[in-house]
Amino acid sequence: MCGIVGYVGSNGSCVRVLIDGLKRLEYRGYDSAGIARIVSDEVKLTKESGNLDNLVSNIDFSETSNLGIGHTRWATHGKVDKVNAHPHKVGKFTLVHNGIIENYADIKNNLLLKGYTFKTQTDTEVLCALLDYLYKRNNNVLESISRLPLLVTGSYALCIICDDDKDNLYVAKNNSPLIIGVNEGENYVASDAQAFIDKTKKYVSLEDLDYGKISKDNVRIYHDGKNKTVQLKRFEFGLSDISKDNYEHYMLKEIYEEKEVFVRTTRPYLDNGITSLIDKMPDFSKYKKIRIIACGSATHAGLVGKQMLERYAEIKTEVETASEFRYNKVFLDKDELVIVISQSGETADTLEALKIANNNGNDTLGIINEKGSTIARLSKIVMYTEAGKEIAVATTKAYLAQVTMLSLIALNLSFKKDLLEKAVLKRVLSDAQLLTNYIQELFEKRQEYQKVADGLATHNGVFFIGRLTDYALAMEGSLKLKEISYTHSEAYPAGELKHGTISLIEDKTPVVALITDDVIASKTISNIKEVKARGAHVIVITNKDNLEDDVYDEIIKIPKVCDLFSPVLAVIPLQLIAYEVAKIKGCTIDKPKNLAKSVTVE
Ligand code: F6R
Repeated sequence: MCGIVGYVGSNGSCVRVLIDGLKRLEYRGYDSAGIARIVSDEVKLTKESGNLDNLVSNIDFSETSNLGIGHTRWATHGKVDKVNAHPHKVGKFTLVHNGIIENYADIKNNLLLKGYTFKTQTDTEVLCALLDYLYKRNNNVLESISRLPLLVTGSYALCIICDDDKDNLYVAKNNSPLIIGVNEGENYVASDAQAFIDKTKKYVSLEDLDYGKISKDNVRIYHDGKNKTVQLKRFEFGLSDISKDNYEHYMLKEIYEEKEVFVRTTRPYLDNGITSLIDKMPDFSKYKKIRIIACGSATHAGLVGKQMLERYAEIKTEVETASEFRYNKVFLDKDELVIVISQSGETADTLEALKIANNNGNDTLGIINEKGSTIARLSKIVMYTEAGKEIAVATTKAYLAQVTMLSLIALNLSFKKDLLEKAVLKRVLSDAQLLTNYIQELFEKRQEYQKVADGLATHNGVFFIGRLTDYALAMEGSLKLKEISYTHSEAYPAGELKHGTISLIEDKTPVVALITDDVIASKTISNIKEVKARGAHVIVITNKDNLEDDVYDEIIKIPKVCDLFSPVLAVIPLQLIAYEVAKIKGCTIDKPKNLAKSVTVE
């Protein structure tokens, strides 16, 4: 989603810093970009629609500047064009904004009455005019910014320049991430640490309703009119964690990291058998019910988790989409554990759902990848997945880590409730040791995925079917395919097809069918025969050895492991098939159109 960069220093390199920072934020998804910097004591603005190269070709890198702001915009209010791109300048204020100002229309109407005129359709220009209006009354930038929480509803991360103070950047945050990178004689502002991680690992994170004033030597943060003590923190990751190495795409690199991700996520909990699993996890046995809330792929991971938790730990588990949950009537029992799952830890809807659960007095557990992210900070308990930085917009390794973590929780709870058979535990522990070999086996089947992809790439519609765990996996496979290859696809519970959707099956309709869940395999096979009888071209992904050959047209075999880890393997062919289809179709795999990595608006 939109990206913010700000810089204040003294060696004249501001323009280069802003552009380099924006380049590192490209992965978040955007449709236009711009910068504003102080050159010869004037604010100079350059904005362009489209990708950063368009902006870069209009910039003179020999310009000397020590202070500036930059932005990649993912349009919300107003179409994608140069005028609507940030930064916006009204009167003495120039700013970049992430988030959405919900009452911008009312504010705009009031400002129109005061004589302001607007060039864009954005909510951001209105915010900029509001600051200019307030400043005209009090002649104090910080005081003007401090009024925003009273006047504005919605979310904002802001980096601001005022014409009357060309030595300082001003910032403000509410419900949208913003951090300050701190270095000797220079400071950075960004919506995401990636923007400045090559320059400094020291940072200050802003809390909601914080605002501040940043000079090259000083970071001053305020809250509710009072000065706050600045707490300096340190990032653990570096530039090498976000490089593409020799891979053609980040997505491929991230899939190929899944072996290490599995080991890193399981190791702390399984390094000493069941003892570490019990000692290192919170006590979940006191809860009567679990509610998992997330968005997109993280919800799909939750649906796999539901199967594991209900089967192994016999705990009722409901899974909800955060964007729906937050507006539904809340029915949360006090003895219910709410689990929020998020790679970025910044997804606006998941964050709001978490706040609802916290306010309701529930225990909340965040299964989060980004350390120190907002959702991680606000969850009462946090368990980090160890996927490392994920750059490709489509999640792969983080999804795998989420599923792994939920399986571990199911295992823990199953043991605690005395439901875990010794033989099952033995199998789980031995499969955990062997899993990286099995993942490697799956990587070596790339030609098989390419062959399937060759076929799928010629079709406009694909069905993914499965039941129970396999249906949850089908949803993830379908989402991966549509988001990166723009192929329409639908995931369906295999048993439901005959209640309507089967009318869409005709000669050669591609159907990817998952048969990995032993509990339901024979039923899924019957459903596959129903679509085959109507001409479907069926690609089966299975861990079964003895499938009759009238069940499939193409088959991808995956190793047979215990139920708890089987989804970890099954998702890999789905991810790689989607990748290969997108590659054949020449799509921008790491940055699919219209999508953003961190969805910080609702
Ligand atoms: C799909 C994908 C998205 C995210 C969703 C939640 O490949 O990446 O569906 O899973 O936007 O994001 P996080 O996990 O950051 O909350």
